[in-house]
Amino acid sequence: MVKAAVLGASGGIGQPLSLLLAISPLVDELSLYDVVNTPGVGADLSHINSKAKVTAYLPEEGKGLEKALTGTDIVVIPAGIPRKPGMTRDDLFKINAGIVRDLVTGVAKYSPKAFVLIISNPVNSTVPIAAEVLKKHEVFDATKLFGVTSLDVVRASTFVADVVGGSPTDYKVPVVGGHSGETIVPLLSQITPKTEIPSDKLEALVKRIQFGGDEVVKAKDGTGSATLSMAYAGFKFAESLLRAVKGETGIVEPTYVYLDGVAGGKEVKEAVGGLDFFAVPVELGPTGAVRATNPLPQANEYEKTLLEEAKKGLAGNIVKGTEFITPTS
Ligand code: NAD
Ligand code: LMR
Repeated sequence: MVKAAVLGASGGIGQPLSLLLAISPLVDELSLYDVVNTPGVGADLSHINSKAKVTAYLPEEGKGLEKALTGTDIVVIPAGIPRKPGMTRDDLFKINAGIVRDLVTGVAKYSPKAFVLIISNPVNSTVPIAAEVLKKHEVFDATKLFGVTSLDVVRASTFVADVVGGSPTDYKVPVVGGHSGETIVPLLSQITPKTEIPSDKLEALVKRIQFGGDEVVKAKDGTGSATLSMAYAGFKFAESLLRAVKGETGIVEPTYVYLDGVAGGKEVKEAVGGLDFFAVPVELGPTGAVRATNPLPQANEYEKTLLEEAKKGLAGNIVKGTEFITPTS
């Protein structure tokens, strides 16, 4: 029996993500939590004739989160405010850091063994926040905490297909680093199957993958950021994890993890100058993150310059998240 919870379930991502989880044969029970509107979203989803039983909770003087999380195996967190044009993801820190802290405190108390998938931005900092909260409660297991960067992977294959033709589903692109602008590093020299990007198109393609989120923010013109593509990407990651938990082997997905706590992570950490968190393709298994792979040694010279930029940005983002929970001075 698999119980999934979505925290921030009434939002732009939360609703379509909850729909996808509700109709997944991998989910037996789905609990929805948000500070608004969950009764309506829950009633609506509960009429679908899929096997998942849907329950919905509001804060209810602190009890709602407890009820939503108790017995949960996988928690997906898209709670928090989205960007408007002109904002960076880091601008969201002020509000979203506290939201993620409080929700992950609930996870630590009521579902400490659950897999935790963080979507709320800025992911580069909210995942370190989640790790610190779980450490404080002595329930941190790095193999169960994932920063969801799969939208970058989804975009990368779509945009590659736009350039070289074919279907987006033909291409698998490792995207490493973090989830904001220059911290997003697509390793286009390692596309499978091997694919040549014309040199005159390369830089624009990399920029498009790095700043794909901005395209949506601009097009939505003040009403939010990517929701539907994010729900799809977040669901695909959750689905991969649940399939791996059920025993399927060979499932590898890029995700932002705490390197010291995942097998193979120490080699990545060394390759990225000691950063604690970095997204790399991670093999998933019954216990979560089984092994981090290290595609960095095969990066070409251009990609190495991108990686240097990413490392600089990430270092500050990680410290900012960690210090929010555990100040050093
Ligand atoms: P939204 O405003 O439509 O929805 C957010 C939801 O969170 C709302 O329903 C709100 O009520 C809820 N919420 C706020 N505080 C809460 C709390 N304390 N407890 C529970 N729920 C709470 O926003 P959205 O478009 O769904 O985006 C959500 C977040 O996801 C944003 O931070 C956005 O930047 C991020 N995002 C991340 C990625 C990614 O690739 N990781 C992609 C897209 C968006
Ligand atoms: C995205 O990549 O679409 C999200 O991180 C949302 C954003 O702010 O761009």
